[in-house]
Amino acid sequence: MRKLAIVGILAAVACDKGGGAPTPSTTTAPAVASSAPAAPAPTFDPGQLAVFAPLPEKIERPDNLLTPEKVALGKTLYFDPKLSKGKDVSCNACHDVTKNGASETQRGRRNAPTIFNAAGGFAQGWDARGTLVEDFVIAHAAEPDVMSQGDKALVQAVAASPAYVAAFKKAFPDEKGAITTDTIGKALGAYTRKLLTPSRWDKFLAGDASALTDAEKAGLAAFLDANCMTCHAGKYIGAAQTQKLGVAKPWPVAPGRAEDLGRFEVTKQDVDRHVFKVPTLRNVTKTSPYLHDGSMSSLEENVKLMARHQVGKELDDARVKAIVTFLGALEGEPPKDLVTKP
Ligand code: HEC
Ligand code: HEC
Repeated sequence: MRKLAIVGILAAVACDKGGGAPTPSTTTAPAVASSAPAAPAPTFDPGQLAVFAPLPEKIERPDNLLTPEKVALGKTLYFDPKLSKGKDVSCNACHDVTKNGASETQRGRRNAPTIFNAAGGFAQGWDARGTLVEDFVIAHAAEPDVMSQGDKALVQAVAASPAYVAAFKKAFPDEKGAITTDTIGKALGAYTRKLLTPSRWDKFLAGDASALTDAEKAGLAAFLDANCMTCHAGKYIGAAQTQKLGVAKPWPVAPGRAEDLGRFEVTKQDVDRHVFKVPTLRNVTKTSPYLHDGSMSSLEENVKLMARHQVGKELDDARVKAIVTFLGALEGEPPKDLVTKP
């Protein structure tokens, strides 16, 4: 019977489409009062929600324990423009943790994803070229449109500071305070591993049905009905696989932008043309612009195109709005002390 409740709400949303009166069901429809009461909130089978999982409390690696000393050092490095070749861009310049962990202005060819929850993803980068955040960030810093800072120069820049020499001794006693790409990566990795954003969605998944509003539940029903969860599922509602952009219908390349072949650039396999990491949808209401190229600023428009090009479905405005309302329930905040400017 629970399933029927969901079908009911979706039918109610679909009625907004106009054009042709909905066929009245004489057998199953309950008596409806003439004052048009609000549609009842849908309920969900545990089976339907099993594709999702709450955010873990901790995403620690056994070989990179999240000690307070290491996390504090990672934070200092994260905000330090001296890490870049020009000594002018910090990690925070492109992944602003005082805001949404991302940036509104794009500097390179690709859109900077939010750093919040990123360390938990199955891979790093839009093309999934990295696995562990500790390793990814070192290679990332060397990229010309990021920090242009090769390994040797990076280590030199950090080791030149007596304050860092002291902080590495405290954070890496087993390594005798060695300043290497390994320890720099571990400190930055430890910091980013702490930037998790638990939300009302996690409470809902843990069994608190009141954690989502009725409108958000209707949006979740629409999200499931549109099959968004075939790609956006798991702990991060994404960040668990790569998929072709335009799998149901070719994606239009945004005007004025060079074509980005995505994962093909990493593997040179034809099947990987236009394949990208499915991004997390946590905090997506706050991280405009969207997509690997930052080509889309409206979340509504993005949801509409996702349905058309990834699922082969046309969504009416009411459903799009419902889904965006649901996505709002995925908003959460990282620990305050970790995101205030040092
Ligand atoms: C000039 C802007 C810029 C700077 C500076 C920068 N990043 Fe990035 N970052 C990006 C862009 C753009 C991407 C996406 C790259 C891609 O997919 O090819 C990215 C991707 C990432 C990712 C992968 C996230 C994911 O969800 O896939 C992590 C982690 C990350 N950056 C951490 C850092 C850290 C740590 C620093 C400092 C050492 C840093 N970034 C400096 C722009 C920047
Ligand atoms: C076949 C897999 C697939 C399905 C199904 C799918 N998506 Fe996506 N989604 C992706 C991929 C891949 C990207 C990243 C594409 C890119 O950046 O070029 C993405 C990106 C997004 C983004 C942008 C996030 C950001 O941070 O840039 C949103 C929002 C989104 N999807 C919502 C949805 C919704 C809502 C649905 C259901 C209507 C849906 N998706 C269905 C694969 C999918």
